[in-house]
Amino acid sequence: MATLITLLPGDGIGPDVTASARQVLDAVADRYGHTFEYREALIGGAAIDAVANPLPNDTIEACEAAEAVFLGAVGGPKWSDPNASIRPEQGLLKLRAVLGVYANLRPVKIYPELAGASPLRPEILDGVDLLVVRELTGGIYFGKKTRTDDAASDLCEYTTDEIERIVRVAARLAEGRRGKLCSVDKANVLETSRLWRDVTDRVLADEYPALEVETLLVDAAAMHLLSRPADFDVIVTENMFGDILTDEASMLAGSLGMLPSASLGNSRAGLYEPIHGSAPDIAGQGIANPCAAIASAAMLLRHSLGLEKEAAAVEAAIAEAIAGGARTADIVAAGHTHVSTDEMTAEIIRCLR
Ligand code: IPM
Ligand code: MG
Repeated sequence: MATLITLLPGDGIGPDVTASARQVLDAVADRYGHTFEYREALIGGAAIDAVANPLPNDTIEACEAAEAVFLGAVGGPKWSDPNASIRPEQGLLKLRAVLGVYANLRPVKIYPELAGASPLRPEILDGVDLLVVRELTGGIYFGKKTRTDDAASDLCEYTTDEIERIVRVAARLAEGRRGKLCSVDKANVLETSRLWRDVTDRVLADEYPALEVETLLVDAAAMHLLSRPADFDVIVTENMFGDILTDEASMLAGSLGMLPSASLGNSRAGLYEPIHGSAPDIAGQGIANPCAAIASAAMLLRHSLGLEKEAAAVEAAIAEAIAGGARTADIVAAGHTHVSTDEMTAEIIRCLR
């Protein structure tokens, strides 16, 4: 029986990298004897242009019917008027909420050959292998918002249940890795963070006593991520802190174009997306880095389809293509030539065993 994967290419470079992910999934299907069937649906600015709704009902239905959802990117200058009442990002946030994908896994893995692409010194990057678990369906992103001519507010709310479930996800993942968990909050200032810390301390002490636990304030965490990134194993944090810290962490890997993500929760379908945005400045030029999208497809194979061998093969193919010297523009060393999105994708497929 065919496995249904819903593709949401979205905006900017989203369609380019979604095409790459699909080609790699097809190569996996071909080599390992699976049948994947795709359904494409609209989201973000593309959906606003077509039907004046960043998340049409057809899209929700296509996602709910699928085993997994792959998303390219949303947003762009065309729809970014701060006073606009309909915005592409609303489509993505609503999709996360509708699917209930509260746990966003953002692994940061360093390819040794790309150490030179990072602004950090190579010796600091040595041994970096961390996973940020970002709470994705709560906090300030989803609280009540108000706006008048001269005042605005965004409410940040968390419940004990929301904190418990994300901490458990992170703790279980830490158990399967190096057994270290760092919780990031702002408990010296925010009431939500004080609840976060109380709940985290209790859950970890009662249920995961074997883990090595660390707690950091978010400002300090931002600094420690650059000064001692190799010390981190799993980091768990709330929605907005996770958004910010993962863009920062992408610089360890050399480019935002390298980092994948998986968003998991109660629904059958997980949501998989590269963490980079729509990069409108390079959209349509065929030069976007497909690695984050392809690594997201690997996470899709692992977490939604249970195909661990295939997922590992895709990850190994990315590593081999990079080790072999293939570089898109964002990760190329000065004076070297870079390949296009399609060439990088083809090289990764060639390396797929
Ligand atoms: C991300 C993005 C989104 C977020 C935007 C596009 C709404 O930055 O996935 O990190 O803030 O969550
Ligand atoms: Mg972000």
